[in-house]
Amino acid sequence: MPAFQSPGPAGSPMTKTERFLAACRRQPVDYTPVWLMRQAGRYMVEYRALREHYTILDLIKSPELAMAVTLQPIDAFDLDAAIIFADILPPLEGMGLSLEFVKGEGPLIHNPLRTPADVAALQVRPPEETLHFTLDAIKLTRQALEGRQIPLIGFSGAPFTLAAYAVEGGGSKNHVRVKSLMMSDPATWHSLMEKLSVVVGHYLLAQARAGAQVLQLFDSWVGQLSPADYRSHVLPHSRHALEIAREAGVPIIHFGTDTAGILPLMREAGGDVIGVDWRIDLDTAWRMVGPGVAVQGNLDPIALFAPWPQLRQRAQQVLDAAHTVGWPGHIFNLGHGILPQTPVDNVRRLVDFVHEYTANPKDEVA
Ligand code: CP3
Repeated sequence: MPAFQSPGPAGSPMTKTERFLAACRRQPVDYTPVWLMRQAGRYMVEYRALREHYTILDLIKSPELAMAVTLQPIDAFDLDAAIIFADILPPLEGMGLSLEFVKGEGPLIHNPLRTPADVAALQVRPPEETLHFTLDAIKLTRQALEGRQIPLIGFSGAPFTLAAYAVEGGGSKNHVRVKSLMMSDPATWHSLMEKLSVVVGHYLLAQARAGAQVLQLFDSWVGQLSPADYRSHVLPHSRHALEIAREAGVPIIHFGTDTAGILPLMREAGGDVIGVDWRIDLDTAWRMVGPGVAVQGNLDPIALFAPWPQLRQRAQQVLDAAHTVGWPGHIFNLGHGILPQTPVDNVRRLVDFVHEYTANPKDEVA
């Protein structure tokens, strides 16, 4: 493993930034870059210590604290990218919704969208006015990472996933309200999605202009949709957001879960890298989207709870699947966010294993 050698001269390894950007652009790398969705979070004792003093919104809204949390996993593990500490939901606050993270229960919107008038009242304001704290956090964090040559990822929720929270008022199992709105009132639906796509697109663009070198669009709940509904009710709006963001010229990762049925459509919507979860083999997913895009994924986050030999075997299966396809452009990640109780030792071993296994022939890695 692997055949894709660094283009750099021998003795001058790629920096993490060069490696990550090369993988996004499907260029050769010296080893497979790895980061983990939700890599800053409750599985880390350092994060839990800060959360004793601050709420999650306190952490997000203070650029200094957001930077500190962003750097916690970077200091602890040999990760190839940092992701700015934020959440997908604050853009909804900027549109006029009232957001709270309720202890033990997750996000809650106090005034969810219930009528066409609620959608009409949603504001579309520039991110510099409504999300300045995250833009400032990106500027600060970029300075901190510059000397370490580690790239910084900015992100946003995608229009559908944000619509799901805005309409349901929080997490949801079946997404009955948001899908009913989509199916029963197309005019209101498209007006909502149009507003969200403009907010999301400009937020991503502003993050890149503030210094984010890669962007990720999280469409976490899009797997709830049939391909036909995705195509007609979501794809045009995700594409619109991605087109606005693309002006920045930085690579964009387009991620969703449970997307085996819509991967080619997500690819059509846009993105340089398609993020996939573990419910589909990575080689199958990559062949579905073709050689023209890179892929990110797709270890089951639960594998991190297994003893090291089983975890190692599953990580190796993901790396082998990417290698089988024979195209450059794999970023190793989990198929969804890392879970709160995850053993930290396994995180460290996993990150190191991805590097060692892809840099060396198979039999040299213990
Ligand atoms: O990846 C990172 O380290 C960056 C930070 C990040 C957070 N949320 C911090 C966070 C990112 C990228 C997100 C994205 C996010 N937020 C998504 C998309 C990714 C995914 O997992 O599908 C979604 C759906 C949300 C919404 C959200 N935020 C939920 C449902 C919750 C509560 C669930 C939970 O895990 O408690 C949050 C809170 C949240 N966002 C936490 C973190 C670290 C936990 C907050 C805490 O209690 O400290």
